[in-house]
Amino acid sequence: MRKMRTQSAPWRAAAVLASVLLVGGVAACGNSDTGDGGSKDDGKITMGFSQVGAESGWRTANTISIKEAATAAGIELKFDDAQQKQENQIKAIRNYIQQKVDVIAFSPVVESGWDTVLKEAKDAKIPVILTDRSVDSADKTLYKTFLGSDFVKEGRLAGEWLVEQKKTASGPVNIVELQGSTGAAPANDRKKGFAEAIAANPNLKVIASQTGDFTRAGGKQVMEQFLKANPKIDVLFAHNDDMGLGAIEAITAAGKVPGKDITIITVDAVKDGMQALADGKFNFIAECSPLLGPQLMDLAKKVKAGEEVPARIETEETTFTSEQAKEALPNRKY
Ligand code: AHR
Repeated sequence: MRKMRTQSAPWRAAAVLASVLLVGGVAACGNSDTGDGGSKDDGKITMGFSQVGAESGWRTANTISIKEAATAAGIELKFDDAQQKQENQIKAIRNYIQQKVDVIAFSPVVESGWDTVLKEAKDAKIPVILTDRSVDSADKTLYKTFLGSDFVKEGRLAGEWLVEQKKTASGPVNIVELQGSTGAAPANDRKKGFAEAIAANPNLKVIASQTGDFTRAGGKQVMEQFLKANPKIDVLFAHNDDMGLGAIEAITAAGKVPGKDITIITVDAVKDGMQALADGKFNFIAECSPLLGPQLMDLAKKVKAGEEVPARIETEETTFTSEQAKEALPNRKY
């Protein structure tokens, strides 16, 4: 019978070390990838979320919705506010990749320039969910799904309402436009949808269009410039409520009556915007819902479990006139 060689002390130490490394290595492998569904296989889900910023009432409501939904779904949320800067979002996403979160979700500040970092997430096998805003990447495999509004439709609905209101206008109708943040999907798309719709009536002309960065301060400041430069403004189309609310201040300060001397159309339908609409200071709002949290958490669970999810999930939305705003306001959640 062959006798097994007994190990000397240094050999034993080396063997123990090797087995520790081996077990550690296997554990690390198990942690690093569960296939398509993320990085840790401990039954818990960690989501890294990069938010645009805190530029508007809409954004505040969206952040609350995401945080509350994560808690309700038992998902650990790592949250970063990018302060409206793309470089901050890229940094946050890279941190989440390093931390091996299970799912990355983000609302892109701008549409372009995401391919490299999205490829890094894909290579690390961390699924990405786009929420609220999309990216213009040609490679659609870089993210699992896009949950959010149809911004072109919102712009079109705003424009169609105006076309109807001004159908008997015999002369030019001068429109000024407060655009959202430059390069952001909702700014690009709302502008496009609105322009397409008002093309139905050649009397309707956009005489000035500039970004107000989706903020009240921006809306006020740019509207002041519009009012100084243009003696006859009939309509304001603001890409969100906050800029419209800022513009109301500028219009009032210029001695004009918002909603009467200047027709105001906005997008979002947050409480303050709905109040302005009910008060007759706004005339029409195309809704954009920020309550994306519960659907986002549901999607995170599905992608982590390796389930197929639709490539595009569109938010259900409506429009409001002043009368409809009065009715809806008491039950408005945001
Ligand atoms: O992406 C959604 C838009 O971003 C909202 O309409 C606007 O208020 C926000 O800042």
